[in-house]
Amino acid sequence: MYEQQQEWHQRRGRRRLVLFPCPLQGHINPMLQLATLLHSHYQRILSITIVHIHFNSPNSSKYPDFTFLPISDGLSPSQSTKDVIALLSLLNHNCANPFRECLINEILSQQNEPPVACIISDAIMHFTQSVADSLQLPRIVLRTSSPTNFVIFAAFPLLRQRGYLPIKESELEAPVPELPPLKVKDIPMIKTGNLEGLFTLISEMVNQTKASAGLIWNSFESLEQTSLESLRHEFPAPNFAIGPFHKFAPAISSSLLTQDRSCLSWLNTQAPSSVIYISFGSIAAIDEAQLVEMALGIAHSGQPFLWVIRPGLVVDHDKSGQEINKDVDLTKFLPQKVKEMMKLHSGRGCIVKWAPQLEVLAHPAVGGFWTHSGWNSTLESICEGVPMLCWACFGDQMVSARYVSEVWRVGFQLENGLQHGEIETYIKRLMVQENNREREEMIERVKDLQERAELCIKKGGSSFKSLENLTDYIFSLKIRKARLA
Ligand code: UDX
Repeated sequence: MYEQQQEWHQRRGRRRLVLFPCPLQGHINPMLQLATLLHSHYQRILSITIVHIHFNSPNSSKYPDFTFLPISDGLSPSQSTKDVIALLSLLNHNCANPFRECLINEILSQQNEPPVACIISDAIMHFTQSVADSLQLPRIVLRTSSPTNFVIFAAFPLLRQRGYLPIKESELEAPVPELPPLKVKDIPMIKTGNLEGLFTLISEMVNQTKASAGLIWNSFESLEQTSLESLRHEFPAPNFAIGPFHKFAPAISSSLLTQDRSCLSWLNTQAPSSVIYISFGSIAAIDEAQLVEMALGIAHSGQPFLWVIRPGLVVDHDKSGQEINKDVDLTKFLPQKVKEMMKLHSGRGCIVKWAPQLEVLAHPAVGGFWTHSGWNSTLESICEGVPMLCWACFGDQMVSARYVSEVWRVGFQLENGLQHGEIETYIKRLMVQENNREREEMIERVKDLQERAELCIKKGGSSFKSLENLTDYIFSLKIRKARLA
């Protein structure tokens, strides 16, 4: 079928896809993986153009087969990801004209390139729908987080109407019977000084996704079947679950930070399944006191550890209340006693600023992942059969952590903040191998999910079929006749 499909479409002529990622690490990775995935399967019939902004711009030299077109973002040079809502709202406002101009002047006017079949944009970059409409181009949405989380975003009007939102401190532990097994505290909120701005961003994202020509998910049927079914009812455009992208596409790192590969040599010196890998992704932040609690919990657990302390992970406030970004050199703000307890000098642990996470999770020495439950990290852990300890920080992480601990039951969740005693207990429950039935059962379940992930991307598997359907769909889209001058 797949080979025949290529022949049929080849006869109809190549198509060009215009991809627009959201400039955050957790969104850039899946968008570039999707591009690589489409290219690796359909390079004869699809050409890929990535339009991106200057802020956090992807490394084009790693993708010689794609065309990269930068557009202006109107951001100040000091822009950071600390206030994600402000950043995303600004981008949705600033990028509409530059994106439209780029499409007109640099893409649609080109006579020698294949016709544009559609735009594929990150769901959170919702402005791309009106740009696509104005140029009569179909837009397919890539939602980089889980389908389950999107079901909840789509339910925000209902959750507001029923009084769950805005979240009240007194109701955090209450269940949300409309969305089992979620508790009120799991509703994917982000701390912001601009609550209405957050609600507007989410509702625009959902509405413009409803207006789109299709949805792509980095997930697979047997992991999130119920949520995918519910999305198919609520979102009439075709849905394509073609994850896990990173297993389906050749591995090319789209890391914005330099990966410290020395930790792989350190892992080579450790016993099988003995190391807990600790990383909170690219945006989550903690304060100095929380860092010390983490260090104490890790120290007391006695387990070997690989800990990512990236620039910006630890923030504190100066006297005027302004946030200051702490230096990443752990030695500067961990008490000497704690450092000694961690036994870094004896090689019990390894600390890096950024790790080659996919290779780390696949390493035989890694036996557990203490994660902030970002969707990429969650999927990556499942795909390597690694059980998790979840400490969710904000947004969709809350939902993923609940699903990991209570639906898929492939991890534990730290629900009471970062306290060293609890951390120590959970690390031991997750990692100790002798007489630990709880861990054995968890590993059985996560290995089962790993196997399903491997099957779904093979020929005939659900994600493979979805990819074929997506390609047929792309070729069925009406091509706009006029080339723009
Ligand atoms: C953000 C949101 O915070 C997250 O909730 C959402 O699901 C996606 O967007 P982020 O916090 O960075 O993402 O987390 P995650 O989704 O886990 O993505 C992090 C990516 O960085 C992963 O692909 C991971 O492999 C990579 N990574 C992380 C590294 O390559 N090295 C590291 O040291 C840490």
